[in-house]
Amino acid sequence: MQKRVHLAGPLHGTLSLPGDKSISHRYALIAAVAEGATRIRNYSTGADCHSTLACVRALGIEVEGAGTEFTIHGRGLDGLRAPAADLDAGNSGSTIRMLSGILAAQPFTSRILGDESLSRRPMQRIIQPLEQMGARIRAREGRFPPLEIHGGPLHPIEYELPVASAQVKTCILLAGLFADGETVVTGPVASRDHTEIALSEFGADVAADPERISICGRPRLTALELEAPSDLSSAAFFLAAALLVPGSRLSIRGVGINPTRAALLDFLRGMGARLRIPDLESRNGELVGEIEVEHSTLAGGTIEGPLTAALIDEIPVLAVLGAASENGLIVRDASELRIKETDRIRTVVDNLRRLGVAAEELPDGMAIPGKQKFHAAEFDSFGDHRIAMAFAVAALAADGESLIDRAEAASVSFPEFWDTLGSIGS
Ligand code: S3P
Repeated sequence: MQKRVHLAGPLHGTLSLPGDKSISHRYALIAAVAEGATRIRNYSTGADCHSTLACVRALGIEVEGAGTEFTIHGRGLDGLRAPAADLDAGNSGSTIRMLSGILAAQPFTSRILGDESLSRRPMQRIIQPLEQMGARIRAREGRFPPLEIHGGPLHPIEYELPVASAQVKTCILLAGLFADGETVVTGPVASRDHTEIALSEFGADVAADPERISICGRPRLTALELEAPSDLSSAAFFLAAALLVPGSRLSIRGVGINPTRAALLDFLRGMGARLRIPDLESRNGELVGEIEVEHSTLAGGTIEGPLTAALIDEIPVLAVLGAASENGLIVRDASELRIKETDRIRTVVDNLRRLGVAAEELPDGMAIPGKQKFHAAEFDSFGDHRIAMAFAVAALAADGESLIDRAEAASVSFPEFWDTLGSIGS
């Protein structure tokens, strides 16, 4: 699918966006091993979160509902059944990595696979700790999907994370639910903490401090009534669009602004973005608020060190803003970007150059000078949802009509993206 996007006049509107992808995955997975019926409202409409639901169903869990509201009839820690066929994680790294933590503890063998992009993403980072806990896992070339997981009784471990990955942390914590004793994760653990929050809400005993997270095995998890906030990483595209297009003013309702995700808002404010959060509430342990944004002149900046991990999903759209900013954007310490849905250093720099923008690819990041003019172009998503959406935003400020190839990729996290974009133009 190809989409046309042209230079936009001021953007106006009040938006409600789909449920948070990270939180939806976690609610579905934990609900499946809790006892009783968990109702989830504002569940993500993204294909990734539907891959998780399909896997949960294939493991013998009844899932009722449609659209954005689902009820998951959890059968407790010992209630999953051997799947009749391979589990399909689609494009979703979160599904394969997080669900593997649960599969590792099952008294059956399962195979989980994914699409072409997922089949190239590294799984060593979860295989290693899960094997230390007692599972046996076979992977293609020892490190890629499909994974054949021979589950069994797990023992607790203390594991030092080699990378600040919330997916790996979650995988170990979910496996820790089934281990007899206390499982501990240390190292660069300051990544999104939705798992720790959700597990506590469901009744698990989780202790989290900045350098160490622990979970006591075999808790009794009890079903909940939950509502996922809207996804800040999806909101990021509309925040960026409003910041970029002169005269714009947008308001986005009910967005998840958990402090481990909200580095985006601080970074944008630091660059001079006019952002307001007029109200704030806590819902199921997660902070939720409305965000108001107005077109602003941005100074530019540097993303490096722990900030890179905190902004990892937003870097494609921040790169677009960086090129229009006064002083440009430098991104360092971002080798993880090379192993996302695409090599996002390469796919961002490639599309920036199509836009007529100078950008230098660095081994672990990119350097983008500021004050650059955007020229209409044909962009390629390379099948990556965040690349499709980031360059749709860039196209709003280009001097004509642009084309986005493989635009359907946006559906992985945000199927309503193109309609929402169409609804705010003038
Ligand atoms: C996610 C963690 C991040 C992020 C991904 C979602 C999560 O991945 O890029 O989109 O929900 O835990 P890593 O854990 O691999 O950094």
